[in-house]
Amino acid sequence: MRMRAAVLEEFGQPLVVQEIDLEEPKQGEVLVRLVACGVCHTDMYTASGVDPSGYAPTVLGHEGAGVVEAVGEGVDSLRVGDHVVTLFSPQCRECEHCLSPKTNICLAIRDQQGRGYLPDGTTRMTRNGEPIRHFMGTSTFAEYTVMPQIALAKVSPEAPLDRACLFACGLSTGLGAAMYTAKVQAGSTCVVFGAGMVGLGAVAGCRLQGAERIVCVDLSQERLEMARHQGATDVMLGGADTVDAILEMTGGFGADYTIEATGLVSVMRQAVESARMGWGLATMCGVAGKGETLDVVPRLLITGRRVAGSSFGGVKGRDQVPELVQRYLDGDIDVDAFLSHRITLDEVNRGFELMEAQDGIRSVIGFG
Ligand SMILES: NC(=O)c1ccc[n+]([C@@H]2O[C@H](COP(=O)([O-])OP(=O)(O)OC[C@H]3O[C@@H](n4cnc5c(N)ncnc54)[C@H](O)[C@@H]3O)[C@@H](O)[C@H]2O)c1
Ligand SMILES: [Zn+2]
Ligand SMILES: [Zn+2]
Repeated sequence: MRMRAAVLEEFGQPLVVQEIDLEEPKQGEVLVRLVACGVCHTDMYTASGVDPSGYAPTVLGHEGAGVVEAVGEGVDSLRVGDHVVTLFSPQCRECEHCLSPKTNICLAIRDQQGRGYLPDGTTRMTRNGEPIRHFMGTSTFAEYTVMPQIALAKVSPEAPLDRACLFACGLSTGLGAAMYTAKVQAGSTCVVFGAGMVGLGAVAGCRLQGAERIVCVDLSQERLEMARHQGATDVMLGGADTVDAILEMTGGFGADYTIEATGLVSVMRQAVESARMGWGLATMCGVAGKGETLDVVPRLLITGRRVAGSSFGGVKGRDQVPELVQRYLDGDIDVDAFLSHRITLDEVNRGFELMEAQDGIRSVIGFG
């Protein structure tokens, strides 16, 4: 079939919206008609060419939600008409990692996905016969996508898909960092660094876990207001003296949990140094630049602080994204507040501009 898609032709250049060909789903694969897709930093990062593992041509996009249009042979977990959220972090439910409660990092299709191919090592997208690679296994800046069933979470049909798509990346990452990676305990004190999509999700996650005190740190007063709306009890402008300020707020000890959501190694360091002596857990969500390292004074670790990293918030996608979406439907999470701009597929490059200008939290592409 023919479909419209935003193709990354050349790094550092705007995406080019055009018609390309999409093949039918093969064994274990599903054809999804996209209804909505958020624009995330990782898309822009790859488009810029800074990511050394990037490739072109490819169709970017990974915060997708849509409806199942067709299923390939052997697909037993989804049917035509199901509402789905795309998962760049799949869950096969069979590999050693999926069988362990300790991680959400599925091993099933990592290598092929990383190189831009579906699990069988080929692409379903072509243009004049030339293969176009799949990005993050999702390629959701397009009217349709073909994905393996293990990378699709079936969500309640009651959830509007322009909200549900935010659970495909940033929102679940933040919520999950607090709920599944840090496993924040009720009554605790938490500090969240960054109030973008991930940080705001983390604030909401700390609240859902019953944290007593949630401090959010950001450079934007406007975003700090949004953090209050999501449940932050205290907000503070970030800077060189942030650690001292947090130690002061916590009787000199530091916070039970700190969560970093900025991507800056200097802030990651603050997150470690603001964690409580004895048991403070610092969880890193941000993706740092290539070659950057996190400086930690070992004494901080000997005296009981721990450092964790969180990919997709530790969320096991097929099991837990539907649960998180249900919590939204139950009224526990205000997702509307994150949907800042609605754009069309043709305006995808404007989505990048808005993100660069920090205008709003998320731009969401709606497909006709
Ligand atoms: N681990 C994962 O699976 C995963 C998934 C999605 C995104 N991410 C990463 O998470 C990070 C955050 O993503 P986002 O979409 O929320 O980004 P964002 O750019 O919208 O938010 C980052 C926030 O950090 C704030 N900030 C900058 N400097 C600061 C400082 N010194 N102190 C406190 N706050 C400061 C900014 O004002 C901004 O509000 C990025 O690095 C992104 O790549 C990771
Ligand atoms: Zn993302
Ligand atoms: Zn697996």
